[in-house]
Amino acid sequence: MTKLLEVNDVSAGYHREPVIEKACFSVSQDDFIGIIGPNGGGKTTLLKVMLGLHKPFSGMVKWFLEDNPQSARQKIGYLPQINFFDIRFPISVFDVVRSGLASPDNLRGRFSRKQNHHVEEVLRLLGMSRLKNKSMGMLSGGEKQRVFLGRAIVSNPDILFLDEPGTYVDHEFESEMYDMLKNLNQHMAIVLVSHDLGMISSYIKSIICVNRVVHYHASNIISNEQLTTYNCPIQLITHGDVPHTVLNKHTQR
Ligand SMILES: Nc1ncnc2c1ncn2[C@@H]1O[C@H](COP(=O)(O)OP(=O)(O)O)[C@@H](O)[C@H]1O
Ligand SMILES: [Mg+2]
Repeated sequence: MTKLLEVNDVSAGYHREPVIEKACFSVSQDDFIGIIGPNGGGKTTLLKVMLGLHKPFSGMVKWFLEDNPQSARQKIGYLPQINFFDIRFPISVFDVVRSGLASPDNLRGRFSRKQNHHVEEVLRLLGMSRLKNKSMGMLSGGEKQRVFLGRAIVSNPDILFLDEPGTYVDHEFESEMYDMLKNLNQHMAIVLVSHDLGMISSYIKSIICVNRVVHYHASNIISNEQLTTYNCPIQLITHGDVPHTVLNKHTQR
């Protein structure tokens, strides 16, 4: 399996205070990794370090995408954890999704007919065609979340990072979105941060528990004992018909 990135013994934090320690794992082409852990445990920091947006104190993140930074950018999709209350800018839904295709060639709005058509398709997939000319500021939180998901996937990246994508969307779209991610995982690696893996536990192939110390777990079945060792309090996970382990919230030390 082709390796996309490697995280080697990474520690990181802010103002010399460590937030994550001992992160050691890699991400390959077919992976679907679920990152779990308590609030403030360091999940978002870990994603930012993987994406090169935050410099680690020690250790290294190594990418195996093509060397050309421009094409590498197109190969990574990222849905950040955002406070949507701050978004008031007068840009249309269509333009936000299309901005996921931006490159020096089309920064001035020179997009091909094919690219525009592809944006329309993504909007359709997300059930947002009707609102494509609306200004972002007019949308509900869940609608904005869909638009940013569209922006993250429109370039058809090799790897897609999602930081708590279920926060603002309703239950119905959340389950639609997870089905969509399952399909996308047929041709892209997915790294998903969520406080609740319940709905997607059967899609996930491996789990990372982040509670300052980072534990990689190479399967989607994880025992209570392991969670206790990881000191990772999480919600119940069931796997439907798949042979499964039920994860209970365990006591924090
Ligand atoms: N920009 C920052 N400056 C200082 N501290 C930060 C910053 N971002 C996050 N932190 C702190 O780092 C810790 C981990 O945060 P974060 O990675 O956002 O956790 P999670 O995503 O698991 O909730 C928290 O204690 C948070 O307050
Ligand atoms: Mg976070």
